[in-house]
Amino acid sequence: MQITTERLTLREFESDDWPAVLAYQQDPRYLEFYPWSTRTESDVKEFVQWFLDEQAESPRRRFQLAVVRRDTGALIGNCGIRRKPDSDQEADIGYEIAPEHWGRGYATEAAAALIEHGFTEMGLHRVSSWCIAGNGASARVLAKLGLQQEGRLRENEFFKGRWWDTLVFGLLKNEWSPPKT
Ligand SMILES: CC(C)(COP(=O)(O)OP(=O)(O)OC[C@H]1O[C@@H](n2cnc3c(N)ncnc32)[C@H](O)[C@@H]1OP(=O)(O)O)[C@@H](O)C(=O)NCCC(=O)NCCS
Repeated sequence: MQITTERLTLREFESDDWPAVLAYQQDPRYLEFYPWSTRTESDVKEFVQWFLDEQAESPRRRFQLAVVRRDTGALIGNCGIRRKPDSDQEADIGYEIAPEHWGRGYATEAAAALIEHGFTEMGLHRVSSWCIAGNGASARVLAKLGLQQEGRLRENEFFKGRWWDTLVFGLLKNEWSPPKT
């Protein structure tokens, strides 16, 4: 699958994408809200392999795509839409962008395209997501995309020596507006 937006191409991962992923996943700013404290070459090769394996799923339920800038061709992150294991009509979305490219609307642009794909091509009724409560940038992206905060799971994650709350978000098809052309 490939999706083109105003500034981005969302394309399938390739095995030689791992160095670009490693370059940003080693950044402490990226790692702040993940259980990982560091990332190695073998961690990231395994990470990319998960997405190569998804491409072989039949029927395909998960689409985790590389986010590539159209102007430079640089891989700057990834984003995904994944049907829930127990529902064909609900999928969750996720995204990550290299810190040097933060704050320019790339995560929102990529995720908006996935949501459109979910509601128009995948037959979804509901799109959901979540983030660690302190991850203000991720919560803001979800709000900009029109997802409503539906709950707060108190201290349901433990990593880096402490408990973290998680915010849960959702968007129904009848609440979603297609982008204006
Ligand atoms: C979350 C993430 C993907 C956002 O990427 P991005 O391309 O910078 O996102 P956008 O530019 O589309 O939007 C970011 C918004 O958050 C805002 N923001 C940034 N830091 C913030 C903070 N600490 N608190 C509140 N809002 C914040 C920005 O101002 C912007 O909102 P605005 O357009 O209203 O000004 C990026 O920070 C990231 O990759 N983080 C590490 C991985 C991660 O946490 N992924 C999500 C896991 S749930």
